[in-house]
Amino acid sequence: MRHLIEIGDLSVEEIGELIETANDMIANPDYYNEICKGKKLATLFFEPSTRTRLSFEAAMLDLGGSVLGFSSAESSSTAKGESVTDTVRTVGCYVDIIAMRHPKEGAPLLASMSSEVPIINAGDGGHSHPTQTLTDLLTIKREKGRLDNLTIALCGDLMFGRTVHSLIAAMSCYENVKFILISPEELRIPDYIRVGILQKKKLEWVETDEMESVLGKADILYMTRVQRERFFNEADYLRLRDTFILDTKKMEYAKPDTIIMHPLPRVNEISPKVDSDERACYFKQVKYGKFIRMALIMKLLEVSK
Ligand code: CP
Repeated sequence: MRHLIEIGDLSVEEIGELIETANDMIANPDYYNEICKGKKLATLFFEPSTRTRLSFEAAMLDLGGSVLGFSSAESSSTAKGESVTDTVRTVGCYVDIIAMRHPKEGAPLLASMSSEVPIINAGDGGHSHPTQTLTDLLTIKREKGRLDNLTIALCGDLMFGRTVHSLIAAMSCYENVKFILISPEELRIPDYIRVGILQKKKLEWVETDEMESVLGKADILYMTRVQRERFFNEADYLRLRDTFILDTKKMEYAKPDTIIMHPLPRVNEISPKVDSDERACYFKQVKYGKFIRMALIMKLLEVSK
């Protein structure tokens, strides 16, 4: 039995296979619509979500399976003091696979240690979000045609932005990928990524607190929201939240083929006027997210075509 807790749980070859399957699903959706008939997915979301939870549910429904779950800790027996371990052991009696989001880093890993069904980490605190990364990799592959030889600028809350941590971990596995890290001083990338990946793998990367001068070097600009829910202090959030706002004027600094990505939700960091720019890919990411999750569910359930 396999779990997906961090993106590193999948090899580069396996990620390539998932992307290939997702692309086939996009081209031939009808072919897959009964492949998980009789299987059940539980979405256990102890933290809010729109895209991840609903795309997991849509993915399983489109595979012919069924879904159940909860969308807040308050509506489950967690509110009565039940542990994550006991919740997962219980839900594992009803379903074949679990997608779980939790505000505490490491909660899905802990759950996987006592689960009798595969656990998918759907985001744990400020740590990791591997299925968003699969979505991002599918988007990059479809929009840029490759996952190597790219310069990716990541902008915003690099400290708490779990999608950024997982994406750097994944992209560091491909040849000649360069990173530009744009953030305020207080929201710089954490040491476990800086030392554990960027320095350890001797990657080419720069840090800056200024956007315009580096935009022209990026093949991909990955914008992120300042993660209000991870701040200890509201005043710090208010001071930092609007540090970087991508608007039509700043888009003039980007190359004609630079793609703009964002895991969403956005708050204020991309002006809605940018949405009509053909380089804006964040709603394509949303669309692709369902297909890569379909491919992942099939893989973890060991269901094939
Ligand atoms: N990208 C993402 O994780 O969005 P949600 O929080 O809406 O699931």
